[in-house]
Amino acid sequence: IKKIGVLTSGGDSPGMNAAIRSVVRTCAYHNIECVGIYRGYQGMIEGDFIEMGPRSVNNIINKGGTILKSARSAEFRTPEGRKKAHENLVKEGIEALVVIGGDGSFTGALMFNSEYNFPVMGIPGTIDNDIYGTSHTLGYDTALNTVVDCIDKIRDTASSHNRLFFVEVMGRDAGHIALNAGIGAGAEEILIPEEDLGLERLLESLQKSKASGKSSSIVVIAEGDKIGKNVFELKDYVESNLPEYDVRVSVLGHMQRGGSPSCFDRVLASRLGVKAVESLLDGVSNFMVGLKNDTVNLTPLVQAIKGKSEIDRELLRVSDIITT
Ligand code: F6P
Repeated sequence: IKKIGVLTSGGDSPGMNAAIRSVVRTCAYHNIECVGIYRGYQGMIEGDFIEMGPRSVNNIINKGGTILKSARSAEFRTPEGRKKAHENLVKEGIEALVVIGGDGSFTGALMFNSEYNFPVMGIPGTIDNDIYGTSHTLGYDTALNTVVDCIDKIRDTASSHNRLFFVEVMGRDAGHIALNAGIGAGAEEILIPEEDLGLERLLESLQKSKASGKSSSIVVIAEGDKIGKNVFELKDYVESNLPEYDVRVSVLGHMQRGGSPSCFDRVLASRLGVKAVESLLDGVSNFMVGLKNDTVNLTPLVQAIKGKSEIDRELLRVSDIITT
């Protein structure tokens, strides 16, 4: 392999720039060329490429977002789109790809590989932490810190006004952000898709905390929670059943995807970038680099997509105990 392409795809996440930097510099270290592909697979289809050397990634390790931009390409889901993308890669002399993104991006990479036998390697980049085969995805740790910081601030005003806050956090269909940030921020209840708490138990729990002397409360709800009501309906439901509660809602939204990556995410991105490039150079393809027991490992892309990244159920018990 003489030239590797790198792209970021799907929802951006803090640490993607640090991963691009690592990929580009690992290529330089091994004397191979590196090409940045703008806007994920869409840029591949349009031939939107840029030659990258070690100096083109100066001063980006600390930056949120992605300098290569990101997109979710509908055209790449078609055989015609992938054909155009392949022609562009061949024209540019790119012989392997590093795809930084989530499961949708990996699905595209696998499809591309099976059609053109093109070497691909994935780096998990999403705040949701919903990828099988790695304990941490890029951006997850930073998002947790952002959410905890926001809830700390909400707690100040909740406590001043003796209010109950429902705080909705991202995570798509996974509850990792809600569960871990909820514990870190001392939430009274945490509602996640993996566990149906039930409306009755939620009311009971809120009644219990009032009776125990708590004057304000924080309930963290994952956006994909299956309690059957969205966060605003939940507010109405609680207010009509427990009129003693003055309830407010805060949806944290896309601020969770931004900001300077944490040290953890920067180190993770640096390690995964090196492993992705060196694996390709060793002739490995169709794998995702990830972290297991603080060791960088490889998981077949097909498993990364199909497997489920389980939540740590012990954390639910811990949360129950420490909110007594
Ligand atoms: O996958 C990352 C994520 O931020 C999810 O948590 C969220 O459900 C989704 O992307 C939002 O997507 P968009 O930025 O397209 O609205």
